[in-house]
Amino acid sequence: IKVYVPRDAAALSMGADAVAKAIAAEAKKRNSKIEIVRNGSRGMLWLEPLVEVETPKGRVAYGPVKPEDVPGLFKANFLKGEKHKLGHGLTEEIPYFKNQERLTFARCGITDPLSIEDYRAHSGFEGLTKALTMAPIDIVGEVTTSGLRGRGGAGFPTGIKWKTVHDAKADQKYICCNADEGDSGTFADRMLMEGDPYCLIEGMTIAGIAVGATKGYIYVRSEYPHAVATLREAIRIATEANWLGRTIQGSPHDFELYVRMGAGAYICGEETSMLESLEGRRGLVRYKPPLPAIEGLFGKPTVINNVLSLASVPIILDKGGEYYRDFGVGKSRGTLAFQLAGNIKQGGLVEKAFGVTARELIEGYGGGTLSGRPLRAAQFGGPLGAYLPNGKLDTPMDYEAFVKVDAMVGHGGIVVFDDTVDMAHMARFAMEFCVIESCGKCTPCRIGSVRGVETMDRIMAGIEREKNIEILEDLCNTMTDGSLCAMGGLTPMPVMSALRHFPEDFNRPVRAEAAE
Ligand code: NAI
Ligand code: SF4
Repeated sequence: IKVYVPRDAAALSMGADAVAKAIAAEAKKRNSKIEIVRNGSRGMLWLEPLVEVETPKGRVAYGPVKPEDVPGLFKANFLKGEKHKLGHGLTEEIPYFKNQERLTFARCGITDPLSIEDYRAHSGFEGLTKALTMAPIDIVGEVTTSGLRGRGGAGFPTGIKWKTVHDAKADQKYICCNADEGDSGTFADRMLMEGDPYCLIEGMTIAGIAVGATKGYIYVRSEYPHAVATLREAIRIATEANWLGRTIQGSPHDFELYVRMGAGAYICGEETSMLESLEGRRGLVRYKPPLPAIEGLFGKPTVINNVLSLASVPIILDKGGEYYRDFGVGKSRGTLAFQLAGNIKQGGLVEKAFGVTARELIEGYGGGTLSGRPLRAAQFGGPLGAYLPNGKLDTPMDYEAFVKVDAMVGHGGIVVFDDTVDMAHMARFAMEFCVIESCGKCTPCRIGSVRGVETMDRIMAGIEREKNIEILEDLCNTMTDGSLCAMGGLTPMPVMSALRHFPEDFNRPVRAEAAE
């Protein structure tokens, strides 16, 4: 009997290792023959550690399981999928999971992340096998047809980026995967790297063949040690099985892959800063142009894509660009991995086609706030994204629809707040974040953010509020127009959205901490 206990960092942080140990010990005691598989996460994080048992009807889920629950689970005959107070029935029938459209995360939580046989048995390397028979420009064409846009947040068309690198003439080109997932409330890149690493490896190899790059780097944030270890092991196994390395599967294509670890700076998720860091220097933003697609890593043409952009490529090649394009709305094609976090009852990952509304995600999937209090705001697209009030939650999740409400979908992170939130405090936090994380290269961001915090402090202390709100707006305009990169350029988005949608919070009685 197979028993699945996730090895994903979210499950580990909730005690999955101890649960796996307790299950093994109890099985031994009872002489039950079981095989424990350490899978990735299904993305239902509020149920972690989510233990699954394989039954003839499918996998049955139990969670969140603590080590002390294990004897009771055995007693209730969970190995046969019997009822228990922690039971949820068939995993794939849990509404949160059942109503998703899992394309990129199709295998995550289902397979053993490091088993190449398991990966192959679930359509793994089908896309690459096809790509090996195609002309590089046709691979680029397939990605263009799919309508895939950069999943890191900016939403730039991936096909156009690849075409630029494909057309560039150079003796060496590179594929760089940006896995410096720094947005607050996001974890989709990590979940994929830990739960289905071969999918990223396959996507990067296809990208290499498409643009003529023979080397790739995955830049992972230092806060993700489990992802780093999983990737390194997966690269070793894939190279041994000749899905990476020289003359892949007997073809004329070579592709080598390396993992590099960041050192904790948010700005190293900005693509040119990441290149500096990869080259061994401090993460300072570079001027653009030249675009990295023309002069990137070590001055060579480089594709820089987010984990999920690259991990979407295998299914696009396997099932065709049109299959992928059939999901979504308008110019936002395919699916996005929405990540529900903050004050939410059912936090986790929901992969859905673009067009689902924010409310369906937060109230439908997420079940509303964890505190049970009324929802007041949600921040979309990380710390540089806008706060939207409850009244705007019927906006469809689509790049263009979000721009229309002065917000951004970004990397799909959604952080929920109830009615106890102080939005002036959140605006101050956004400015403070910029002070701490600014690389210091340009004035509007380096100095503007410091002045922004000071101005917020005056507003919160009730000092010349009207005048200082005007200064804040002026400062935000300067930062938006004059910053070199998105760090300084987008910090005004949360600040201005808080001011626009929650003006009453900027006029509250003086806060005790501000008056001190
Ligand atoms: P950008 O709009 O400047 O560029 C997007 C991408 O398109 C870049 O890779 C750029 O090199 C490329 N590009 C632009 N024109 C091109 C052309 N003609 N040919 C080939 N490539 C071209 O946006 P940027 O600064 O790269 O990213 C900003 C976004 O990052 C924000 O909108 C935010 O959502 C997101 N972000 C994501 C974080 C995360 O943790 N995932 C953290 C912070 C920000
Ligand atoms: Fe550096 Fe900020 Fe300027 Fe970006 S906006 S280059 S982070 S100082």
